[in-house]
Amino acid sequence: MTRQTVGIIVGSNRRESINRRLALALAKLASDRLDFVWVRIDDLPMYNQDLEGARPEVVGRFTSEVGALRALLFVTPEHNRSVPAVLKNAIDWGSKPTDQSVWRGKTAAITGTANGGIGTAVAQQHLRAILGDLGVTVMGGEAYITFKPEPVDAEGNFLDDSRRSFCRAYMDQFASLVQRLASPPGA
Ligand SMILES: Cc1cc2nc3c(=O)[nH]c(=O)nc-3n(C[C@H](O)[C@H](O)[C@H](O)COP(=O)(O)O)c2cc1C
Repeated sequence: MTRQTVGIIVGSNRRESINRRLALALAKLASDRLDFVWVRIDDLPMYNQDLEGARPEVVGRFTSEVGALRALLFVTPEHNRSVPAVLKNAIDWGSKPTDQSVWRGKTAAITGTANGGIGTAVAQQHLRAILGDLGVTVMGGEAYITFKPEPVDAEGNFLDDSRRSFCRAYMDQFASLVQRLASPPGA
């Protein structure tokens, strides 16, 4: 079976992002089944409809990268009980013009981490709704990861068995979904 490539989108522009750290650990966990590429969003300007027609080059880079992928892993913080502006901004750029949206038909999984006990659950629910609206097939299930105590080290290694196996199962489910949706019918 052809290995599929998944784009990682981290909903944070923070240098020491704990979500980027979690994303690295998730990619490592699933590296036996999937290939990963990082899709940068922190360099995108604020969406402005006035820029349509002469889109900044960096936006073209972003939409080409996402456009070339079939599957995406979103790992996002929660900002004021929703999706951080940097992530919503990237989603908005990718969604226009509507007939060229880069999101439609993609397969995605969502997770995220925060110090709080609900581990970005509300942001993830908002993100699920937004992506669903844009025609993304979002994997079912939930992965709300608290960062207290820290689940992963700076090199992307899980620090306890329980969260390692929970995340491993989540990533296995995602790998199976991505492979199934990429296979021709009956394969
Ligand atoms: C503007 C702002 C709003 C925040 N709102 C929430 C929130 O609603 N829920 C939450 O769990 N953490 C919230 N936090 C704390 C973040 O979870 C924390 O900053 C976390 O480190 C962000 O993830 P990152 O390191 O990947 O950027 C907020 C932080 C900021 C800066």
